[in-house]
Amino acid sequence: MRVAIIGAGYVGLVTGAVFASFNNKVSVVDLNEDKVSLLREGSLPFFEPKLEHLIKNGLKSKSLSFTTDCKQAVNKAKIVFICVGTPNSKNGEVDLTQLYSALREVARSLRNNSVIAIKSTVPIGVETKLKTIVKRYSQNNLEIVVVPEFLREGTAVDDAFHPDRIVIGVENLRSKAVDLVLDLYKRLPGERIICDLRSAQLIKYAANSFLATKISFANAVSRIAEKVGADAKKVLIGVGLDKRIGSSHLNPGVGYGGSCLPKDVVAFINISKKIGYDFGLLKEVDRVNQEQVKNFVKRIISKLNNKLDGKRIAILGLSFKPGTDDIREAPSLKIIKMFLDAGCEVTAFDPVAIPNVNKTNLGPKIKFADDAYAAAKDADCLVIVTEWEEFANLDLLKIKKLMKTPLIADGRNIYNSDEVRALGFDYLSVGV
Ligand code: UGA
Repeated sequence: MRVAIIGAGYVGLVTGAVFASFNNKVSVVDLNEDKVSLLREGSLPFFEPKLEHLIKNGLKSKSLSFTTDCKQAVNKAKIVFICVGTPNSKNGEVDLTQLYSALREVARSLRNNSVIAIKSTVPIGVETKLKTIVKRYSQNNLEIVVVPEFLREGTAVDDAFHPDRIVIGVENLRSKAVDLVLDLYKRLPGERIICDLRSAQLIKYAANSFLATKISFANAVSRIAEKVGADAKKVLIGVGLDKRIGSSHLNPGVGYGGSCLPKDVVAFINISKKIGYDFGLLKEVDRVNQEQVKNFVKRIISKLNNKLDGKRIAILGLSFKPGTDDIREAPSLKIIKMFLDAGCEVTAFDPVAIPNVNKTNLGPKIKFADDAYAAAKDADCLVIVTEWEEFANLDLLKIKKLMKTPLIADGRNIYNSDEVRALGFDYLSVGV
């Protein structure tokens, strides 16, 4: 099947590469010429395990191509996936500029009886406007479907090959568009949920918001555990082993970040408000998340006897989670800023995200180390912010010798407190 993908971000690239691996003819469009040149050479504009390999295979077999020319890519396609960003604007509304402009371009060039599949996360009810745009720019019979994406950064390729479910939102449940989308997805596992457009949009917001709710719930429990002298890690393992609850997204830590959960929670609160529902529960989820970083830093400051001026803080992990170089809404940035504001010196290490942090306004204010040991040198506190596997396997005795004072603040609870303390460290984790 000929498929076009608009937007070469995480979702667009992974979707394109996966369909190309099933021998479809996939053309991925992006306006950014540098990005397209890079992709044509088989290189990635960001770090994502296994994706480069998949893209190289697609290029080699000529099932995958990249272009800046939307018309050419869309012209012969049977399905066009729109995977552009839908960020939140300053007033809390979802900014649909990229979506509208992509849709205009696509509608102008798409053949009769083709399908436009929206993968971007879009506010509930936006289809009315989308249909108007399509009608204005095309005389053809084009159908809009909503096919939300549920992959995670860091494990995007595995997630895309093993989805739990494939949601297809469509205006008419018997439409040929459903058969076409089902046909394209036929080699992928997972339950098929075929529903109306608004339900599909709502599933995406509700799923991400529920994941955020689980994390904030775990973090709220961690605050109580800290106060009563319990161990939140154990408590939440005990909770998550109940099959009805499940253990995923119940790890307490420094809170959720990334380009999706924080954005979608805030967008869902605003979408609900607009239609007259006060989503107080989600407001609290967002508040708990913001508190979590502050509480963690406050506890470190108190461990340092509230004397911070000139103290050296080593930060391990800058990306918002392991397996990615994405630093959007990363807890590390908030933590670093708090320490800098308090007069500390910060040295940071991350296996892949240093170049991205270097480009931010924090870049010139901090030092970057070549590895975790170099970051720990002369540090008053070693702060673990992202649970990269290599941080769980450090030679702690070597770290202890390098540090000025042996204090570890473990924001992701990757160490066993008894073992670390037995080595002579002062150790602080989340929820203990
Ligand atoms: C999230 C969803 O999990 C995906 O299903 C969805 O497709 C995606 O957003 C999206 O909308 O595009 P992602 O942001 O890549 O995926 O990462 P998650 O693994 O969900 O983690 C999000 C944040 O929560 C990270 O900062 C992570 O460190 C944090 N987290 C996660 C916790 O603090 N505790 C946990 O137990 C799990």
